[in-house]
Amino acid sequence: MSIPTPHIEAKNKDEIAKTVLMPGDPLRAKYIAENYLDDPVLFNSTRGMLGYTGYYKGKKVSVMGSGMGLASSMIYYNELFMFYDVETIIRVGTAGSMQEDVKLKDIVVATSACSDSAINTDVFGKYHFSVTPDFNLLLKASEKSKELNLNTHFGQVLSAEEFYSNMSEEISENMRKYGIMCVEMETYGLYTVARRRGKKGLGLFTISDSLITGEADSAENRQNAYTNMMELALEIAIG
Ligand code: HPA
Repeated sequence: MSIPTPHIEAKNKDEIAKTVLMPGDPLRAKYIAENYLDDPVLFNSTRGMLGYTGYYKGKKVSVMGSGMGLASSMIYYNELFMFYDVETIIRVGTAGSMQEDVKLKDIVVATSACSDSAINTDVFGKYHFSVTPDFNLLLKASEKSKELNLNTHFGQVLSAEEFYSNMSEEISENMRKYGIMCVEMETYGLYTVARRRGKKGLGLFTISDSLITGEADSAENRQNAYTNMMELALEIAIG
């Protein structure tokens, strides 16, 4: 396949930076481009999945929506890595807390992800592949978090196939006991595709709701918390 791809209409590779930040929501991508990047230029609107390229502190960075879930997001991860020579994708999402000390507005960095997805069973048979981020990106996330004075949690996340899942109380309690920090729906796909294509991925989240207390953050609070995560992601992106 060549460019443009079925889902991305950019005609030249240089319309997209080597590092792409990816929220699930395409309107969030637009907001990030308009509020954080200098001179943002739209490179995709196919299926409304808005993607922009601009500059952060003088360095070229792109931001694009991924849609929700492994199925949607993996289409974009694959096409960006395979056909646009993207080297690094940083997911900037929201997640539901599964631990008492992971509070609303906190930031989580996924040191690994587990999932009920079967995408790796064809590849590894009975051996469960552990998906992990690029180690240097992870190190950078730790360094930049300290520099920015952020209280960031590092740990395993659950990338669930279903938002409205039937997970039993027993299994969710086991997940808590084993230290799974939060639930979201894309990072297992990002870490798998990054390894498959020999590229780099990292997932960062702002906690938007809690599966323990049932509380959800207000839109206003979410915006402030998102600002911290975006700064962290952009600092990681420019190295
Ligand atoms: N479940 C799955 N994905 C999510 C959640 C959740 O509770 N919150 C934010 N993304």
